[in-house]
Amino acid sequence: MGGSAGNVLSVHGGTPLHGTIRVRGAKNLVSKAMVAALLGETPSRLYDVPAIRDVEVVRGLLELHGVRVSDGASEGELVLDPANVEAANVDEINVHAGSSRIPILFCGPLLHRLGHAFIPDLGGCHIGPRPIDFHMQALREFGAVVDKTPDGLHLTAPNGLHGTKLELPYPSVGATEQVLLTAVRAEGVTELRNAAVEPEIIDLICVLQKMGAIINVHTSRVIEIEGVPALTGYAHRPIPDRIEAASWAAAALATGGDVRVLGARQADMTTFLNTFRSVGGAFEITDACPPRPAAAGRPPEPGVEGGIRFWHPGGELRAVALETAVHPGFMTDWQQPLVVALTQARGLSIVHETVYEQRLGYTKALLSMGATIQTYRDCLGGTPCRFGRRNFTHSAVIAGPTKLHAADLVIPDLRAGFSHLIAALAAEGTSRVYGVDLINRGYEDFEGKLAALGAHTERP
Ligand code: EPU
Repeated sequence: MGGSAGNVLSVHGGTPLHGTIRVRGAKNLVSKAMVAALLGETPSRLYDVPAIRDVEVVRGLLELHGVRVSDGASEGELVLDPANVEAANVDEINVHAGSSRIPILFCGPLLHRLGHAFIPDLGGCHIGPRPIDFHMQALREFGAVVDKTPDGLHLTAPNGLHGTKLELPYPSVGATEQVLLTAVRAEGVTELRNAAVEPEIIDLICVLQKMGAIINVHTSRVIEIEGVPALTGYAHRPIPDRIEAASWAAAALATGGDVRVLGARQADMTTFLNTFRSVGGAFEITDACPPRPAAAGRPPEPGVEGGIRFWHPGGELRAVALETAVHPGFMTDWQQPLVVALTQARGLSIVHETVYEQRLGYTKALLSMGATIQTYRDCLGGTPCRFGRRNFTHSAVIAGPTKLHAADLVIPDLRAGFSHLIAALAAEGTSRVYGVDLINRGYEDFEGKLAALGAHTERP
């Protein structure tokens, strides 16, 4: 959490958000695609990269490893040239320790490029212990030797990396990416069972396919990767950030506003849209359409930028029961922003968090603002999950509607941070949100976007 003196935002709440903003490439794809560039023998081009802290961290790490990263000709375009990949100085890498979880994904690519890898202590959001056992197990099965030291992980592959048969205990996004980034250049075939199939994973597979990889996604979460001896660079436009889009949608609903999110795409958000509609929110989808040149007897057409408009149609919102899950379920990252809107819905809403064991801590802040939320260790309203047996507080009942009032809030993690912001925007009075810089990790120019939507905020 950022602790600098100016790291606080005053939010004068009670004004519905109105207007248009744009989302760019998904944070959770862009950062992985940047790592994938390490595997190529020629430069890669990534378009529509958002200016967020996580991208800076990965860029810094790539540069430490000799990758030349430069801005391309178009706004948001990055060129990544891995021609001179080299081992980085451990002390320099350690500067990045604790700032992101992405470094763990450097393991496979660095082992392929250099024969060894050093990974600093991992950071990321404080939403549970977030172990890396699946990653380490997979890497060992490929033939890596992992040496844990107090400063981080040292990996080598004395006999090279070889394709293998793996089954994840849980469809982890990061572990699936680890396997993909390692298997594409391992010798032989890798079969991964119980893989994650989030849209960001499928998009990473698209990136790797452009590089020359051979990857088959079968039914029932099975991914088969045929290793190839060399890969080239790629040119890729990432899928839009469906977490950011849903966050602004929740902000529109909670404040009784109307927000058009350019760049948002229906196909990545159908589960969210169903829930948004069940709660009583309205949305309208515009499909992207490329410009068309003039043709015989027909004038040119300028093209349409796709997006989704989300708004509160008036009247009362309705309580819902929702359970977070791996794709195609309701994303865990959509949970915190939407719960703020659920405090305004009539009746009892039930939330069962099944992806992270500790992702309800932020509800305490909502309680301090007047919300009525009770948390439980039981698996409420859905299928029993792995956390019920292990006694984690991972279900919540939200009673509404309750008026929210201003409070002083401290941001605990990225998505909870955005939900605090939404709560402050929906509440009557002036809230002070501390640690607000953390939101820059995953939301590009959120203060500019807030201003564009008519929010009244200032840095005191
Ligand atoms: N898990 C293990 N062992 C492992 C790896 C994961 O037990 O080795 C457990 C985790 O503790 C968790 C579950 O598996 O309970 C799922 O974790 P997963 O590996 O799927 O998550 P991740 O790869 O660490 C990514 C996103 C998260 C997002 C999750 C789920 C990135 C950088 N992060 O994390 O995004 O919530 O997938 O979709 O892609 C965010 O953007 O704010 C964020 C937290």
